[in-house]
Amino acid sequence: MDKIQDAIDILKIYNQEHIINLLEKLEGEKKQELIEQINKIDFHQLKELYDNTKKEIEIKENKIEPLPYLDKAKLSKETKEKFDRLGEEVIEKGEYAVVTMAGGQGTRLGHNGPKGTFKLDVYGKGKYLFEILTENLKEANKKYGTTIPWYIMTSKQNNEDTYNFLEKNNYFGYPKEYVTLFTQGELPLLDKEGKLLIGKDMKIREASDGNGGTYFSLRASGCLADMKERGIKWIFIGGVDNALLKMADVTLLGMAVDKGVQIASKSIVKANAHERVGVFGKMNNHPKVIEYSEMPEKMAEEVDENGELKYGEAHIMCNLYTIDAIEKISKETLMYHSALKKNAYIDENGREIIPEEPNSYKFESFIFDAFEFFDDIAILRGKREDDFAPVKNKEGVDSPKTAKELYEKFWNNQN
Ligand code: UTP
Repeated sequence: MDKIQDAIDILKIYNQEHIINLLEKLEGEKKQELIEQINKIDFHQLKELYDNTKKEIEIKENKIEPLPYLDKAKLSKETKEKFDRLGEEVIEKGEYAVVTMAGGQGTRLGHNGPKGTFKLDVYGKGKYLFEILTENLKEANKKYGTTIPWYIMTSKQNNEDTYNFLEKNNYFGYPKEYVTLFTQGELPLLDKEGKLLIGKDMKIREASDGNGGTYFSLRASGCLADMKERGIKWIFIGGVDNALLKMADVTLLGMAVDKGVQIASKSIVKANAHERVGVFGKMNNHPKVIEYSEMPEKMAEEVDENGELKYGEAHIMCNLYTIDAIEKISKETLMYHSALKKNAYIDENGREIIPEEPNSYKFESFIFDAFEFFDDIAILRGKREDDFAPVKNKEGVDSPKTAKELYEKFWNNQN
């Protein structure tokens, strides 16, 4: 009884009366589930997140400076060999693990199912994104005579589908005992008026809390402890939706070892000064991915003595960490960003509404916001045509069509 009253009280305080109406209609287990859900939600935090969506983004007086990087294509033969050897040693000794962030909703792609289960139409038969990632890891295992432990982050929504898909496909031949699925946290979605959405299951709609949730979830799920037990020293974290992602790049790894840094990242050069991507820089003396909206236009156009953009290194979700770095970040609080997205909901007449336009805020923390907890980061510039074939949109840029072309072009050149 107390729990019901607690739930009603809090809903009243935060103007969520439509959920009280729902609660009154439900019975038995469904009612209990909703009460439990309400009592777990941090309404104060949610209100703050909603209020922030109404505030003008204030661009503070920040000291922005370029960050040095090394260009993989321009390394001397000796340096490249030194880095490669150092990186190979880490992997050969079994001190390397890989994390795939696969908890996103993939709303722009609109694929029915987890993004990793999307089949890219390559070489006639097609390949699933998970299959492409597995092939990349299997190739590394063969090269370095080891099996790299692979941790896949899912969301509460897609965990079961992801698990069933991988089981059905026998993990595309990856040794199952080296694959661990773990689930990330969630936050409720809010409509434009700050109201909670009701889902088809008569619960409050929640969605994964952004790829910045990876760090906390690695620790909370026990994966970090598992990594320690296995003697892992370096961890690569990448997305699920880049068909050219190189998850075991020994040059990147060796460079990080050589420089003695805690974090490293692979970049690609911006297509032009105004490409809408986040770029690496130093902000107030700490490494940061500066979003295009945060970068004054003039600064975005600045070039160095070689005519290259000073802020030209785009972040491509290709990040590397020591295990100590992950441990440290997992205990920090990352800020949340909001994004308006399309999310279906049940209206007051019980009908499911599938919106055609973005209708609700999703709150997400970003993986790269953790860089500022460090003094330094090592950046290796890769190549767009070798390293980046994202599958984001249904059509146009960064779509299955562009990813297919990039993927096939890359592999045709290898053979
Ligand atoms: P995006 O930010 O591009 O999001 O994710 P998305 O979910 O794939 O697509 P949209 O924006 O809804 O269309 C970049 C990477 O981060 C992962 C994604 O799975 C992808 O690999 N991600 C994103 C998570 O693992 N969890 C999240 O909460 C968000």
